[in-house]
Amino acid sequence: MNRKVDVYNPLSRALHWATALLVALQFAFGVLMVRDWPEGSLWATLVDRFQLYDSHKVLGLALLALVIFRLANRAARGAPGKLPEIPAWQQGAATLAHAALYLLLIVVPLLGWLGISFYPALKVFDSAVLPALVSPNRPASEVVLFWHVWAAFALVGLAVAHAAIALHHHFVRRDRTLDRMLGR
Ligand code: HEM
Ligand code: HEM
Repeated sequence: MNRKVDVYNPLSRALHWATALLVALQFAFGVLMVRDWPEGSLWATLVDRFQLYDSHKVLGLALLALVIFRLANRAARGAPGKLPEIPAWQQGAATLAHAALYLLLIVVPLLGWLGISFYPALKVFDSAVLPALVSPNRPASEVVLFWHVWAAFALVGLAVAHAAIALHHHFVRRDRTLDRMLGR
């Protein structure tokens, strides 16, 4: 059998790994930027130098655009068929988990964007102003950003479990699950 027909297409693979990298960066930026680092410490300098708050907002919106494009690409070009050796209940669980990941990839940046619209904190890098989704309402921004953070932790928790399962398929069960996402 030609194994190559059974892999994710190159664009889907590129988008998958770009998403993983951006989510990791976004999560690290988010956690680092909200801490009260002692003035003059290395972390305080880095947060300031790289304007982590603004980078987090802009990168987060770029990630939202990337995920929308990724979903459109998937709708147009589909995904490889199921691997026959994987039991139906595990296929079902994987489909559910992937749907939850896609949902969180949309919900997390949307809640962030909604939060900074309510706050409002739309100006980035002392120049550009991001588009507002709603008019200002400070108490609403607190609620929305609270849920933004919870949803971000849920996304990263699920993604870590997902990656661990992919590695289990590769190194323990030795099937083609990970190879298909690596294009091998
Ligand atoms: C998938 C994309 C994103 C991820 C994974 C993410 C993750 C995070 C994390 C982990 C935190 C801080 C957690 C903590 O309190 O320790 C955070 C805070 C924050 N994020 Fe995001 N974020 C994303 C997208 C966005 C976007 C698109 C915006 C706005 C346009 C945004 C705006 C904010 C703001 C304003 C805070 C500070 C909240 C506060 O001060 O309580 N985020 N984010
Ligand atoms: C934030 C990090 C990640 C996110 C949000 C994410 C998300 C996703 C999503 C939504 C899919 C479904 C693709 C589709 O069929 O449309 C997928 C597939 C896949 N991911 Fe990830 N992923 C992440 C990280 C990783 C990592 C680190 C690994 C490997 C260690 C990995 C391995 C895979 C594999 C092997 C598939 C294909 C599964 C299959 O064919 O059933 N992912 N990922």
